[in-house]
Amino acid sequence: MKLVFLGPPGSGKGTQSQKLCSERGFTAIATGNLLRDEVKAQSDLGKEVADCMERGDLVSDSIVFELVKNKVQECDNYILDGFPRNIDQAKSLDIMLDDIGHKIDKVINFTLPDEVLIRRITGRFTCSSCSAVYNDFYKKTLKPGICDKCGSTEFDRRQDDNEETLKRRLEVFHKTNDLICQYYEKNNLLISLEALKDEGFIFDLLQKVINEEV
Ligand code: AP5
Repeated sequence: MKLVFLGPPGSGKGTQSQKLCSERGFTAIATGNLLRDEVKAQSDLGKEVADCMERGDLVSDSIVFELVKNKVQECDNYILDGFPRNIDQAKSLDIMLDDIGHKIDKVINFTLPDEVLIRRITGRFTCSSCSAVYNDFYKKTLKPGICDKCGSTEFDRRQDDNEETLKRRLEVFHKTNDLICQYYEKNNLLISLEALKDEGFIFDLLQKVINEEV
């Protein structure tokens, strides 16, 4: 199965996609993570995109596209998290998938009001070792300073997870997401999922959507 996750920064796309990977064998292809890996490795590509990401702007379509293309060819069941981000990316994705005989099954659009996103974004931290996602306000580690999943004591916070950059990321999101949704709605692929409730509730709902029980 091939899924696309759309939604504003902090809507829970990454959190839910991690759960689906561990419980249902999906592979997450998250363009933000792929780009951050390049920045961390200080590759030429990473150096090229670092400023743009720190401002909260989209990086060029061609760069993102190359990263995604390499990944989808290796996978069968995957979640595209944070891609496509504009209508050109959506159209190019269809062409690319068509070329390799893949087809998107469902596009899930996570919806929630902008006001709740500040705490989700400014409170986010992730395990440096296994990438488990936590939050100062909503999901602390069970033992302070120790990852519940792998026991690591190292955590990361993202450079772009601050109020000022969040404003820009939301502006960019609101400029582009409606058109992408309309595109997928026309193809009968779009499902909107209200993402305000707790993680477990949303995961159950997501599973029902995937199993076509709702
Ligand atoms: P990207 O990494 O894709 O970031 P984003 O879209 O801004 O999304 P986030 O990762 O911030 O949010 P999320 O929905 O995954 O939230 P999460 O589950 O972690 O993109 C970053 C940058 O890369 C872009 O700005 C751009 O520069 C570039 N980029 C990426 N893709 C691109 C593309 N295709 N084209 C061009 N440029 C691209 O949850 C957030 C927090 O909330 C966590 O702390 C979590 O614990 C908590 N939480 C989750 N669910 C709940 C819940 N139900 N209740 C309470 N708390 C919750």
